[in-house]
Order: sequence, then C-alpha cells, then structure tokens
Amino acid sequence: MKITNLIILTVAASFAAVTGARAEGKLPPDSSKAGVTYATDIKPIFDASCVKCHSGDKPKARLHMDTLEGVLKGSKQGKIVVVGDSSNSHLVKSVAHTTPDSDGWMPPVHNKAGIKELTPEQIGLIRAWIDQGAK
Ligand code: HEC
Repeated sequence: MKITNLIILTVAASFAAVTGARAEGKLPPDSSKAGVTYATDIKPIFDASCVKCHSGDKPKARLHMDTLEGVLKGSKQGKIVVVGDSSNSHLVKSVAHTTPDSDGWMPPVHNKAGIKELTPEQIGLIRAWIDQGAK
C-alpha cells in the first residue's frame, strides 16, 4: 500500500472515532417505553437542557420549551415536531446532531452555561414521545 493511502486511511479512521456514530447521520433508536408523555418523561429533559435559553420573555428562536403547547407551536421558523414522525422532526435532528450545519446542534456546542449534549437514551425517549403522538 502506498504511504499516502495509509495516511488517508488513518486520518479517516481517527475522524470516525472522534465524531462517533453521530457523524453517520443516524438517529439513536426509539425508547421501548410505552406511554411516554411530555409531563412525566420529556419536560425533565427539556428543563435540564433547554429551557435556560428557550423560555421567558425572549426565548431563543422564539421557541418556548417549558410547556407542551410551546414545543408543539414551534419556533420563529415553524414547527419543530412532526407528530408521529420523530425522524423528520427538526427537534430530534438538532439534539442528535444530524442537521447539516453544526450551528443547529442543540444545546449549542460549547455553550457558556456548560449544558451537555443529550444522551442517546434521552434522544430515544424524545423519539418515542413524538412517535407515540406527542401527548
Ligand atoms: C445556551 C442556550 C441554548 C440552549 C441550552 C438550547 N438552545 Fe436551542 N437555540 C439556541 C439558539 C441561540 C438558537 C438559534 C436562535 C436563532 O437562530 O435565532 C437555538 C435554536 C434552536 C432550534 C431551532 C429553531 C429553528 O427554527 O431554527 C431548536 C429546534 C432548538 N434550539 C432546540 C433546542 C433544544 C431541544 C434544546 C435542549 C436540548 C436547546 N435548544 C437548548 C440556544 C440554546
């Protein structure tokens, strides 16, 4: 094998290792939990990771995440949840880092509040909630 090929392979492999599964554009699977609701399962996740910026008088992107109505209403750009279709919901793409532009990843990477990215389990719960009708 030519040395240049080896270098290219090594670089590609380390890039995949660093960026992990999310770089493949795949979403974590739905949680198997039945009866997922905003009040019991989802609000605690949004309260911890989103409402600091998405609530109050001037929520970012005019998106209120502290009420079910606010989440379903969406942002200044429109709906972020397609009820029954989590894989096409902008909300899911933003937390799973599958939007084409990393500016849209939520919570923002390196935000000053130090809020960490959601876990695959949390994203799976959000997916199950949307796919079960976003109640
Ligand atoms: C540290 C602040 C901060 C946190 C925390 C945060 N966001 Fe955001 N969010 C922003 C900003 C800033 C924008 C972009 C606003 C704009 O472009 O007008 C945004 C935009 C969005 C958008 C895009 C709206 C649109 O229509 O383009 C979605 C969806 C979103 N956030 C969801 C979330 C979710 C879900 C969480 C929690 C997991 C979260 N955000 C946490 C600051 C934050």
